[in-house]
Amino acid sequence: MQPTRREFAGTVMAFTLLEMIWSRGLFAESVKPVVGSWFKDLNALGDDLRGRKLKDTEFQAKMEELYKKVDLAELLQFVELDKIAEKVKLPANGAFSTSFDLGKIEGMPSKINFGRQIFCMGKGRAVVPHGHENMCTGFIILKGTFRGRHYDKLETQADHFIIKPTIDRDFKPGEVSTISDHKDNVHWFTCTADAGFIFNMHFNGYDPSIKSSGNRLYLDPDGEKMADGLIKAKKMTSGECHKKFG
Ligand SMILES: [Fe+2]
Repeated sequence: MQPTRREFAGTVMAFTLLEMIWSRGLFAESVKPVVGSWFKDLNALGDDLRGRKLKDTEFQAKMEELYKKVDLAELLQFVELDKIAEKVKLPANGAFSTSFDLGKIEGMPSKINFGRQIFCMGKGRAVVPHGHENMCTGFIILKGTFRGRHYDKLETQADHFIIKPTIDRDFKPGEVSTISDHKDNVHWFTCTADAGFIFNMHFNGYDPSIKSSGNRLYLDPDGEKMADGLIKAKKMTSGECHKKFG
């Protein structure tokens, strides 16, 4: 059906107005419909983890699914990565950690149940190898490329862990990896571009029966090779680990 002249004129006007609003960036600050609801979905998932409706590995699978659905361009804009990349001085060792504001998401619960940060590092520098206890967490590569390695933490002894390699591959922007207490618990990401940025959310202390300080468990994956591809990985201090791998 052909529109009447009046309908047609109205459509053109509405389109022009919309175009003007977009071009002036008037939507940019207040309305982030996709990434806003994505953060809210992750927060709701965190409630299910803390409420024990999901086991850690079930949560991890759902988190990974949601991570893969992120609109990367919108996330980059939301965390203002351009500004971060411009301002940050990439450290000579390891990664610099910064954060971003969730306050601008309309309808976001006031009680956010996750921690968040962005790791920034130069070529050859790393988020050094470490494991976690009582924490589910995950990475999204925002910019740059990385060699990412994960291990299952199978045993904890006085001075070492027994670990098993599970992931060792290149990661590019938009790619994700996740951690729970029972799957891929140790990670190690080395930047292979001039500069690299990683988005991170962490849900810690979800299981009150696990008594843990929640600190990173630094270790040396270049340890003694055992049968079945297992590795005896010596415990390290942050200083030792950064000296060798940072
Ligand atoms: Fe970590």
